[in-house]
Amino acid sequence: MSPARIRAGAMDDIPAVLGLLDAATEWLVARGRTGQWGTEPHSGDPRRRAQLAAWVPPGHLHIAELDGRPVGALVVGAAPAHVPAAGEPELYVELLVTSRGHAGRGLGGDLLDHARVLALGRGLRLLRIDCYAGDDRALVGWYERQGFRATEAFAVTRPDGTQWPGQVLVQELGQLSRRGRGGRRGR
Ligand SMILES: CC(C)(COP(=O)(O)OP(=O)(O)OC[C@H]1O[C@@H](n2cnc3c(N)ncnc32)[C@H](O)[C@@H]1OP(=O)(O)O)[C@@H](O)C(=O)NCCC(=O)NCCS
Repeated sequence: MSPARIRAGAMDDIPAVLGLLDAATEWLVARGRTGQWGTEPHSGDPRRRAQLAAWVPPGHLHIAELDGRPVGALVVGAAPAHVPAAGEPELYVELLVTSRGHAGRGLGGDLLDHARVLALGRGLRLLRIDCYAGDDRALVGWYERQGFRATEAFAVTRPDGTQWPGQVLVQELGQLSRRGRGGRRGR
């Protein structure tokens, strides 16, 4: 299998990214994991569309493609308001999603490698991310296997008043790379 090519995202990519997000939500729902992203398609949410559109002009959106087709998306930028500030300059992973039809290929790790390269290229030595920490914390475990270390736990109040449990994870760059990368890469 050829490696994924990772390139800057454009406005034209937004429908494909929404497709990846919708497919991931369906995949989560099918596994009973409705706590992370709920049950509704992202494509039906105007705020999600606006957020994606806002990420394009500053160059925050990056697309992984195979044979010219988008198979993953990465958004990097600044930390959101709901997580504790970092004590030093950082690059923050705001969104990561891969094609459910290409699971098991290590595309998520490839996109995280791209984030590391972007960070180091900007002189940044800290990469952070947050993710859903509910249920069995499987997603936290996946990031730990990608070389991240869990730091602060936090909670966001959902519109219905319940709490969405989140976990911040950090990776200090420089002592990289692909450290702790687990999983099957298939190439
Ligand atoms: C997380 C993600 C980007 C990793 O991409 P990838 O390198 O292509 O990895 P895979 O899809 O093969 O998944 C790797 C493992 O993590 C598990 N996993 C992935 N997303 C998960 C999630 N949201 N919750 C629980 N487990 C998850 C998979 O079941 C798989 O487990 P296995 O190794 O036991 O089979 C991708 O799985 C994805 O898009 N997941 C759904 C959306 C998501 O949760 N994005 C991250 C938001 S912070």
